[in-house]
Amino acid sequence: MTIRILSTSQLVDNHIKTLGEQFPQLVITNYRSPTWINALSTVEAIIVTLSESINETDLKLATKLKVIGTYSVGTNHIPIDFCKNRGIKIVSTPGVLTNATADLALAILLNLTRKLRDGENLIRSGNWHGWEPNQLLGTSLSGMTCGIIGSGAIGQAFARRINTIGMKPVFWARSSYKLVDYGNGTAPRLPLDELLSISNVLSLHCPLTKETKGLLSNDKLMLLPNGAFIINTARGGILDENAVIQMLRCGKIGGVGLDVYDNEPDINQDWFTSPNTVLLPHLGSATNETRSAMAKILCDDITLILNS
Ligand code: GLV
Repeated sequence: MTIRILSTSQLVDNHIKTLGEQFPQLVITNYRSPTWINALSTVEAIIVTLSESINETDLKLATKLKVIGTYSVGTNHIPIDFCKNRGIKIVSTPGVLTNATADLALAILLNLTRKLRDGENLIRSGNWHGWEPNQLLGTSLSGMTCGIIGSGAIGQAFARRINTIGMKPVFWARSSYKLVDYGNGTAPRLPLDELLSISNVLSLHCPLTKETKGLLSNDKLMLLPNGAFIINTARGGILDENAVIQMLRCGKIGGVGLDVYDNEPDINQDWFTSPNTVLLPHLGSATNETRSAMAKILCDDITLILNS
């Protein structure tokens, strides 16, 4: 059988089943398995997840390819310019994971600043002897300034959330607008150095691109006020992780919450011995509703493209 659609995953719910009913030449097989590699020369659509990159060598073999669908909003694992030149469409899942990701960023921020994990560990250790005036004191966020890197849908959704707990959002983004209307109000878009110098909390919500790779270098991060918190639910690679680990260890940074890492899932082991961290396994879009909506968008878009 000639394989027309190659997916590395069942996604969630029945969306891929529906796609397979329309295109029986759909095969689900492991990323880079012999079947996957052999099918490249016949496929018209490839579905991958965010940790499965496609390279130019794959695309040179995939001469019939019309579309790459990624089960993610991020497309940094796909050679976009090469696809453009070849007329290969890329479909991803913007919009439907905005709230889930912004919710998670807020959850990480509150977990970090209110020491939720330490509190739970204390309870579970059986060593809690009752309320104490100085027990596990965290940091109040109300009145603090939060620098948001990226003023797209997720950055704005995060701004709405932190605004409701009394924080002041400010944005950095590559657009030229001076003010960002984030739905609950407007907030200034500042030059990066200025934003960093006033951000008690820094939260990343931009894609990983040539422009944002390494954006938050050691020198830039040194501009943050002492004790600032950093949250990354965007992508590893934007932030210099080694610099952050050093800053955490010397107290320059007050805490770090990560859902994404350089080179995940092989993450820098130094995170495990660094103080004041919340470390999650890339859960930004991980709700049933969101993953189902992502799968539907992907399968619907691929259907449209293959039928056009
Ligand atoms: C999550 O990180 C995504 O890109 O969907």
